[in-house]
Amino acid sequence: MVIKVVILIGGYMLFVKEGKALIKTKLNEKEVFYNPRGKFTRSLGVIVVAAEGEVKGRELVVADALAATGIRGIRYFLESGKVKKLFLNDISRTAYYIIQENLKLNKISGESAIVTRLDANSFLSSHFKEKDKFDLVDVDPYGSPAPYIDNSVSAVKEGGILAITATDLAPLCGIYPWPAFRKYWALPLRGEFCHEIAARILINLVVQSCGRKERVPEPILTCRSEHYIRVYVRIKKGKRNFPYEKIGFIYRCEKCLEVYVRSIKEAFMNKCPICGSNLLTSGPLWIGDLHSVSFLDKLNRVKDLVEEDRAKVDKFLFFFKKELKMPPYYYDVSKACGLLKKSMPSIQRIINALISMGFKATRTHFNPVGIKTTAPYKEFLEVIKLSTKA
Ligand SMILES: C[S@@+](CC[C@H](N)C(=O)[O-])C[C@H]1O[C@@H](n2cnc3c(N)ncnc32)[C@H](O)[C@@H]1O
Repeated sequence: MVIKVVILIGGYMLFVKEGKALIKTKLNEKEVFYNPRGKFTRSLGVIVVAAEGEVKGRELVVADALAATGIRGIRYFLESGKVKKLFLNDISRTAYYIIQENLKLNKISGESAIVTRLDANSFLSSHFKEKDKFDLVDVDPYGSPAPYIDNSVSAVKEGGILAITATDLAPLCGIYPWPAFRKYWALPLRGEFCHEIAARILINLVVQSCGRKERVPEPILTCRSEHYIRVYVRIKKGKRNFPYEKIGFIYRCEKCLEVYVRSIKEAFMNKCPICGSNLLTSGPLWIGDLHSVSFLDKLNRVKDLVEEDRAKVDKFLFFFKKELKMPPYYYDVSKACGLLKKSMPSIQRIINALISMGFKATRTHFNPVGIKTTAPYKEFLEVIKLSTKA
């Protein structure tokens, strides 16, 4: 229910009654974000907090890192009966003041609620110490929550809950697939079940972050409603039971519309198009250049400043330049000689032979007997055979 109150002096002011909370959304003519379309997600959040209080058998410490009017946390406090302490943070000055007014309006004391005005990442990272972490961290930003995932995972107590909202459904639902990939490291799928794919991509973002921090995620509730996707993920310590088998791909035939699901392990099992054997897979990884041409030029200009390791610095700078615009791997000549049961030929002779056949070829700083070349491995072996005696 939305109640508008006209104040005679000081202009027009909007109060909102949502659940048990009465919320002011405007301060000195400045609006603070309040979206009535988010009411259901806040109502669902109330029962999540209530249920989690029962799971834990105690009252909880809860944070809303991007709190706006504070309505979400205030409703959790007033309606779940399970919030011991509430942390409400927002970067906006107006939000900071209005949250304090709203806490007073709802008779929540300064002992029960702490208000801060920080960037969400600074706020979350100031709660990394075990004793300062939260039972539930709520991240409800404009658009994508991706910038806040790493710090929010770290701010969740052992066995606590990370609750995140995403409203950037255009990329997540496949209208802009590559911007989605940039933010989420996953390609969405446009079409009939795009919202479920969006939710699964969001969960996978939390899963990736957990993996980096030796934590194990378990999605406990996932919801699409109105203009957003909302996921609740329980986060525990550990690495042994990381859910590799639950990460994967969903494929859809663009012609017959059949759907296929493959775990990441299955998806990485590919066959060699030349000989049909298993392809050993690496990645996703960077396959672009490893150095910048202009920065290498700068390094060459200042290299005389260093006296230590001069010969090695020169050699490496030379190889770095050679590695540019070459394939993102190299072949090991000693390994090839082992396969062919041949003695080691001169590396430069092989490079010259490859170049004379029309391939690009160069040494690499990664390995003194490594060669980067555009030649297929078969041709590389042929060159070694011809360059060596048995
Ligand atoms: C979508 S609103 C939050 C809505 C609120 N959780 C609710 O349920 O009504 C996003 C809020 O994030 C705040 N914000 C934007 N960037 C921020 C940042 N980097 N750190 C903290 N708060 C930020 C904005 O001021 C805005 O109030």
